Amino acid sequence: MKPRELKPDIFWVGAIDWDRRLFDALIPLPDGTSYNSYLIKGSEKTVLIDTVDPTMQEILTANLSELKINSIDYIIANHAEQDHSGAIPQILEKYPEAIVVCTPKCKNMLIDLLMIPETQFITVSDKETISLGDKTLEFIYTPWVHWPETMVTYLREDKILFSCDFFGSHLATTDLYVTNKGQTDEAAKRYYAEIMMPFRTIIQKNLEKLEGLKIDIIAPSHGPLYSEPEFIMKAYHHWSFDDPKNIVVLPYTSMHGSTRKMVEYIVSALVQRSVTVKQFDLSVTDIGKMAMALVDAATVVIGTPTVLTGAHPNVAYAAILANALRPNLKFISIIGSYGWGSKAIDQLVALVPNLKAEILEPVLSKGFPEETDFKALENLAGIIAQKHKENGYN
Ligand code: FEO
Repeated sequence: MKPRELKPDIFWVGAIDWDRRLFDALIPLPDGTSYNSYLIKGSEKTVLIDTVDPTMQEILTANLSELKINSIDYIIANHAEQDHSGAIPQILEKYPEAIVVCTPKCKNMLIDLLMIPETQFITVSDKETISLGDKTLEFIYTPWVHWPETMVTYLREDKILFSCDFFGSHLATTDLYVTNKGQTDEAAKRYYAEIMMPFRTIIQKNLEKLEGLKIDIIAPSHGPLYSEPEFIMKAYHHWSFDDPKNIVVLPYTSMHGSTRKMVEYIVSALVQRSVTVKQFDLSVTDIGKMAMALVDAATVVIGTPTVLTGAHPNVAYAAILANALRPNLKFISIIGSYGWGSKAIDQLVALVPNLKAEILEPVLSKGFPEETDFKALENLAGIIAQKHKENGYN
């Protein structure tokens, strides 16, 4: 994709990665992604904001050539992760006069990760500005979205917020701006769930910090741009500030049908009590969908069979992931089955220390579930529904 003009002298010069299906060897990308890089030609200085994943650096340099850019004064590195910084060394080869502008923490990371010489940097403090002549860049620290060094860059005269990962979405599209709000909301929520949710309380502070800034366009470094910034800012506000909802997330695995039968039973019992359930068979599910469901859920019920006396490895993986994502869960329970003995409950509870949730009485069935097991599941469903109601989770 060739450069695209946002406004006079402001261009998108990034790359669209239609085919990428996995990020960090972990996160599914069903819709691909993009690495948005931006070029601003001020009356005195030319600036590149973020670069692209190193696998696509040739596209970025071709875009700069297309715009006949002979010199770059500053490369703004909002974030040190390589999908935005990885092409900085190649840009510096082509434009050795360019100075990398970033936070002090980001500078250290870029030296560690990319071996950029220390002399190539200037660091900026929170709210510091740089003049490009007729345009002014203001740097606003927004730490932990989702690394400690992150900042955003605000172009004052044009009211554009270059937000890097913040407000981004893994979505490959030829639309420069959001046209399909439903699709973007889903992609941005998936993105939030997978990398921002662990820092929810810091995200709240960063959102508050941006309040009062007049923003016409949010230009993230993944996915389409927002010409209606309030759309994504409101969504982020809901995801990070709101109480959980009357939702149970139920990730499970079943080997011979016993755990599946228990899952089916409790799902039905919860639905009868007007609780929404999002059920995920971990042997086939897109783990990103489960992460999204955890954004709003009040309760997780984990379903596991017993394998070699412990939880099924698929379930242990999901528990470790949920623990890392730190959703705002209030209640946890475990259901499942075993043949002759099981340590699955103790094992799973030990895997989720970050989840500050009340553990509700688990239900494990010996062999295929029987009447006493169904009664215990019915009881568990009743407790969950009651707890949600008492706490006002609607
Ligand atoms: Fe898109 Fe944290 O990098």
